[in-house]
Amino acid sequence: MKNKNVDLLVGAQWGDEGKGKVVDLLGADVDVFVRSQGGANAGHTVIVDGQKVVFHLLPSGMLYPGKLCVLGNGLVIDPEQFLKETAELESRGQACARLAVSPHAHVVMPYHKLLDRLQEQARSKSRKIGTTGRGIGPCYVDKYTRCGLRIEDLLDADVLRERLVPLLEEKNQILTHLYNEKPLPFDEIYEPAREWGKALAPYVDDTMTLLRKAVDGGQHILLEGAQAALLDIDHGTYPYVTSSSTCAAGAFTGTGLAPNDLKRIISVVKAYTTRVGEGPMPTEDLGDDGEKLRQQGGEFGATTGRPRRCGWLDMVGLKYATALNGADTIALTKLDVLTGMGPIKVCVAYDHNGTRLDRYPTDTRVLEEVKPIYETLPGWTEDISGCRKFEELPAAAQDYVRYIERELNAPVKLVAVGPDRAQTIDRGMRD
Ligand code: GDP
Ligand code: IMO
Ligand code: MG
Repeated sequence: MKNKNVDLLVGAQWGDEGKGKVVDLLGADVDVFVRSQGGANAGHTVIVDGQKVVFHLLPSGMLYPGKLCVLGNGLVIDPEQFLKETAELESRGQACARLAVSPHAHVVMPYHKLLDRLQEQARSKSRKIGTTGRGIGPCYVDKYTRCGLRIEDLLDADVLRERLVPLLEEKNQILTHLYNEKPLPFDEIYEPAREWGKALAPYVDDTMTLLRKAVDGGQHILLEGAQAALLDIDHGTYPYVTSSSTCAAGAFTGTGLAPNDLKRIISVVKAYTTRVGEGPMPTEDLGDDGEKLRQQGGEFGATTGRPRRCGWLDMVGLKYATALNGADTIALTKLDVLTGMGPIKVCVAYDHNGTRLDRYPTDTRVLEEVKPIYETLPGWTEDISGCRKFEELPAAAQDYVRYIERELNAPVKLVAVGPDRAQTIDRGMRD
């Protein structure tokens, strides 16, 4: 058996760290790209030679022709979105030649998206999650109550009908009795689902075995996490989280690979903090600094277009995420956005009613009440978006990178200084 060559890439904050860009950048050396959890709630942006592509469901390696891309069993797949994304790539001349979809991935049905929106509307203002409306939560609910439809169920018309009849009856009870909505007619759900089955059939494959063979054959596999550690269903800021295991551990159940298959765990860290949706965010800056970060960083959601909440780097949250993910390598993104921000603030601890907290609190309500304790580091004014070597960065920017690696006890092996694939400083990530 050859040496295992599997990298797992995960987000370290509340998502949108630039995972898509890093995946695309590493892509030239990768044989197999894999998504293992979440669904079309993700929005991963890749920019090559000024051309922008946002992936929601498909792995961000899809721009490399001929490589294998895998959607693992842990995903919740919206077939409409899947077909839209594959068609878009085809129309750009980037055919999805080698795309494999697990038969065990769950199907996001129209009633999941409807219920996602209705549930969100019904939540009181203080309990709103700010979901992406992509049906993620309701689909995972069906998975765990063991009544969900899996991709394999779409492939056989009779099986689909048999499974869908009681399922839709139950959904219609909820829609009519709880939400005063009209029931969904069976044929309006069944007929498109049949068509999806036909369209998806060529992609369905035993992805666990495919991946096992690829790992054992020494192929370079990149597992692309969606969302991020602080949105994890168990370890994130519950209930203001998504419905999947977004930390490193989720990649195993979501693919059938094993923990000892991994070579590296790459944590993608944005040089400041953003969050989209509701929930605590200790370093959120509602003043000029937050607005400047939003404008300079173009911080508007890649999936919903919502303005992202912005603030300084939160080392307490980052240390927690780094430990949770077992991250041994860091990719630091959007360093260029800090240019001209003046002195850079970093949250080193929290203040909770006069008590200093150095560790991430387990209680989300405590996190809602804490105030950040900041240290200030020197900033810089030089444009760094053209830097391609670490030594070309201003001393203050270099010091900021070193500060992060010291505090997180892991090397920053890649620094991104702009959205384009080329705007990157490689400090050994691709060695
Ligand atoms: P993801 O969900 O983690 O893949 O991140 P998103 O694609 O949702 O959001 C990251 C945004 O930042 C996208 O618009 C990227 O094009 C952009 N981006 C990524 N890296 C950099 C960088 O180093 N500098 C700047 N200015 N933009 C970046
Ligand atoms: P990427 O992969 C940022 C957030 C939503 C909401 C919460 C639950 O691009 O980093 P959901 O629709 O999943 O039930 O919403 O999670 N959220 C994300 N925030 N980036 C994402 O993905 C996200 N996916 C979900 O805003 O607060
Ligand atoms: Mg995103």
